Amino acid sequence: MGARELFTFRNPYFSAGVGIAAGLFLLTALGGFIILPYAQKDLQFASLWDAICSAAGLPQRSASVPTAKVGPRLSEAILTPTILARPSQESIGRGATLAQRCAICHGPTGISRADSPNLAGQYAAVIYKELVDFRSGARTNAVMSPFAVNLTDQEIADLAAYYAYLPRLPAYHPTPQLPKPRIVIYGAPMRGIAPCGSCHGSLDNKTGSPWLEGQSEAYMKAQLQAFAASQRTNDISQQMRNVARAMTPQEIDEAAAYYASQPPEVVKATD
Ligand code: HEC
Ligand code: HEC
Repeated sequence: MGARELFTFRNPYFSAGVGIAAGLFLLTALGGFIILPYAQKDLQFASLWDAICSAAGLPQRSASVPTAKVGPRLSEAILTPTILARPSQESIGRGATLAQRCAICHGPTGISRADSPNLAGQYAAVIYKELVDFRSGARTNAVMSPFAVNLTDQEIADLAAYYAYLPRLPAYHPTPQLPKPRIVIYGAPMRGIAPCGSCHGSLDNKTGSPWLEGQSEAYMKAQLQAFAASQRTNDISQQMRNVARAMTPQEIDEAAAYYASQPPEVVKATD
């Protein structure tokens, strides 16, 4: 048999070889592009083509399939760094009037005496997003939710402008009396935790991350535990759940105590 005849379909070995190779190729393609994508429980595809694209690493285009069909509602708030960046005096004034009904829990100056979160000086984007989330049910709380359900978009923007305009409690971390917890200052690189301040404001503020300084210790602890247990699920892309899940209970206590720290006279004045 000459070399030419080796590679023709007249040679039964060649035909069998090509047949087996083609068969294997089809099988792996079927497995990798179709069977495996469909085997992933948390993914749903509108069409076969979507499954193939997903396997190839292309983003899914089918918006027609709601991904939150089961499980908690996800946040619908849309955040950009400039959202509500330049509020008008009128907006702040309307917010002040609306805020009267919030004062009983959040305090007349936005500093709570009852372990409700302080709102004074909170980033406007945060107030806005949290209210949108309470309104939609993406974040729920038996005490707070009823006050958000009937707010209009304009009212939410006005309240955000007002509270952001009020002076916030400053950071208070005297050394060496109060040691700085490692988890706050360095994060935990091996566990994928960035320093808290890289999102929360002392180093940098990632839009949507709340100002924590002077916040109620009990409140922050409860929020960290709720994120860790996936009871609070309104953080976009699980940013905060991923952090809280990787924290130890002791680190949660330390971080809450660190951020809650305030000079003695401020505590007295608000008590
Ligand atoms: C009856 C008490 C009460 C009233 C009145 C109330 N809130 Fe709240 N609010 C709370 C509590 C408690 C929380 C914390 C909920 C939680 O633990 O998830 C909260 C949370 C919030 C948050 C989220 C803060 C953060 O840092 O994540 C915002 C924003 C807020 N409230 C705004 C308002 C506004 C605006 C009003 C008035 C329209 C209002 N609240 C009225 C009790 C109240
Ligand atoms: C990658 C950015 C990022 C890092 C790092 C991060 N956080 Fe957060 N955190 C967020 C975001 C975003 C939210 C708001 C989630 C939402 O409601 O949308 C949040 C919310 C919180 C809240 C709830 C506050 C409130 O008023 O609702 C607490 C408490 C908190 N973080 C503590 C921490 C601590 C402590 C660390 C460090 C161990 C930390 N975070 C690290 C992004 C981050």
